[in-house]
Amino acid sequence: MTASKPDLYRDLAEQLAALLAGEADRIANAANMAALIYHGLPDLNWAGFYFRRGAELVLGPFQGKPACVRIAIGRGVCGTAAARAATVVVPDVHDFPGHIACDPASRSELVVPLIEDGRVSGMLDLDSPLLARFDEADREGCERLVAVFLDHHRQIPDT
Ligand code: SME
Repeated sequence: MTASKPDLYRDLAEQLAALLAGEADRIANAANMAALIYHGLPDLNWAGFYFRRGAELVLGPFQGKPACVRIAIGRGVCGTAAARAATVVVPDVHDFPGHIACDPASRSELVVPLIEDGRVSGMLDLDSPLLARFDEADREGCERLVAVFLDHHRQIPDT
């Protein structure tokens, strides 16, 4: 990687804002955001969304191999991040009790909750085949990308 991580995430946040501009459809915007992240960040094997439907998370737009469709709140890395309403970074998924292995190549994971009106509405989930792929700069950067997505949809109601 030539650019520093903060520079890379700043560029991605600008590109994301441009991609979302004027579009209200949440699925279309989530799909483009997943593609932007998957192709813009190195060493990922999955990038995408789960959206909350009652007590479950249901698979949304993503890039990568086919994934687990429904995850109960509290289960796996995604369900844990949903229950905590906080970002979870897992350096080694083999050490995370209850990790749900969608792609056996995944070794580390970062999950950022989407929080709207004080409740978790979904998750952004990134997987990497590298151990300890995600650090503090990735956490901050991905939280910023989620904030761009949520700010956009606060200002432009869903269709
Ligand atoms: N590993 C996740 C499941 C989703 S996949 O990584 C796409 C988890 O434990 O919640």
